[in-house]
Amino acid sequence: MGKVIAISNLKGGVGKTTTCHNLGWGLATEYDKRVCLIDLNPQADLTKILGYNPADLDVTVEHALRGIFENNLAPIEDYLIHACEMDILPADGCLAPFGDELSSGRYWMVESVLQRLIEKLNDHYDYILIDCVNYFGKLLHIALCAADEVLLVAQPNYFGVDAIAEMLNIVEIVQQRLNQSLSINGILLTQANMRTLHAREAVTRLRSDLDGRVYHSIIPYSVQVSVYQEMHLPIFTLKNNPVAKAYHSFLEEFMEREDQKI
Ligand SMILES: Nc1ncnc2c1ncn2[C@@H]1O[C@H](COP(=O)(O)OP(=O)(O)OP(=O)(O)O)[C@@H](O)[C@H]1O
Ligand SMILES: [Mg+2]
Repeated sequence: MGKVIAISNLKGGVGKTTTCHNLGWGLATEYDKRVCLIDLNPQADLTKILGYNPADLDVTVEHALRGIFENNLAPIEDYLIHACEMDILPADGCLAPFGDELSSGRYWMVESVLQRLIEKLNDHYDYILIDCVNYFGKLLHIALCAADEVLLVAQPNYFGVDAIAEMLNIVEIVQQRLNQSLSINGILLTQANMRTLHAREAVTRLRSDLDGRVYHSIIPYSVQVSVYQEMHLPIFTLKNNPVAKAYHSFLEEFMEREDQKI
């Protein structure tokens, strides 16, 4: 059974999609894991980063989720794109109105819809990474109900600290009411400028408040990230770049934690 990790934070632009891409790539290429990415964001950034134009897609995660509700899901293969290192269940903008439909009461058993879809994928992958939206609505809701773990991605600054606290509250509520087996994988700090006192103070505060949950590896800021994304490559593959090195060290730490869980 694959492990399902939701990559999440209610704050926008913090590096969730970038982390999803790089973590997936690293697990697949460095550790030979079978990885499926689920783009659960109508912005479809993950889909675009992998080089697919959402407007050209015939089927997306939205069609697969509708298939679950309408009991006419085609073979799961039909919804997946096989990228060279990992597979993706892509998204397009239609996921936004679909998210509203999920809230409308039109469907029954909404909470479990993504979980039911993932059951079709689970045997084929070691890791299923869900790239989440940055607001609390049904799309985040179904992701947290389907996930085994949440990886929180945040920036070490005043708002970042607040956003983590808010997200931890949400996870606790989901744990109590909807998904008892949900746990926090960890908190990854990204786009950090550790030369500033402000960032260093935020890191110290987070480490003291949240104990071992914060990853030691901190992803610095580098303009190369978006340059590489435009080329549809993960920064992970770049030699001698501080962000690439930090993602490598995060991946090692991630795997060490995985080994400790066995
Ligand atoms: N370490 C980094 N250094 C510099 N830029 C980065 C870094 N990580 C991500 N970025 C850039 O920051 C922007 C936001 O990153 P990303 O899309 O991963 O964030 P997100 O949390 O998924 O955003 P959203 O909430 O909109 O989904 C992108 O332009 C990306 O290229
Ligand atoms: Mg994103």
